[in-house]
Amino acid sequence: MRIARTPAEVREALASEERPLGLVPTMGALHAGHLALVTRAREECRTVAASIFVNPLQFGPAEDFARYPRAFESDVAALRDAGVALVYAPDVATMYPAGFATAVDPGPVGALYEGALRPGHFRGVATVCVKLFATVAPDRAYFGAKDAQQVAVLRRVVADLDLGLELVVVPTVREADGLALSSRNVYLDPPQRADAPALHRALAAIVDAVRGGETDRERAVACGRAALADADEAYLDVVDPLTFTPLDPLAASGLAIGSVRFGTTRLIDNEPIGEAL
Ligand code: PAF
Repeated sequence: MRIARTPAEVREALASEERPLGLVPTMGALHAGHLALVTRAREECRTVAASIFVNPLQFGPAEDFARYPRAFESDVAALRDAGVALVYAPDVATMYPAGFATAVDPGPVGALYEGALRPGHFRGVATVCVKLFATVAPDRAYFGAKDAQQVAVLRRVVADLDLGLELVVVPTVREADGLALSSRNVYLDPPQRADAPALHRALAAIVDAVRGGETDRERAVACGRAALADADEAYLDVVDPLTFTPLDPLAASGLAIGSVRFGTTRLIDNEPIGEAL
């Protein structure tokens, strides 16, 4: 497995590799959810590359960029064991050299929910992903279903900018109690960790209500809210998974989405009403 630090090194390393080529973009601190992306990419692609880059552009000034978990050595070992051919791990000055001024604005889908709570977040995600796609030139790129709004943003970007690659969405990996794996779970103290599955229970309650015949969005969301008990909700809703606009009337295509704060850590999750994304 090679480690490349610049776009030129990536292009040189991948020039002779077999296609199709899959890319797994990550910010490191890898867990079983990331490795599920690599496993799927290995099943579908002759060559798999991964990136490790904690992207400052997608963090707000008061967010956790500085303390975001970093575990480069163990990440590299895990990616090597998982059969990745190349890891692209640029530093910030390589990704955003002095004078860097171009950004990708993902439009309305990037302005709702996470976009409203984290202004500029999806602009940062879209910009870094377009740069990664331009450098690696993958046939397919792999993303986790947990970050459903990120997937919606990137689908829009890939289609609108004619990027000519396939986005593959891999199901969320969960702990036994339903908590979605996330690099931010390490921030939870034991009582917060014990409370955190309430988010998934709330989403499951919404899905159960709709599958049980509830057609009113507000009432379905209220079922979720009841399951949240006194947890500190940031949002809970049912949306169209492509546009992230609230889904009224409810339909099997809907996605129950939610975000809850446990202490200073805000977690996100989602559950499809019908088939997975
Ligand atoms: O999902 C993530 O880890 C990040 O948002 C991504 C896609 C690697 C872009 O920095």
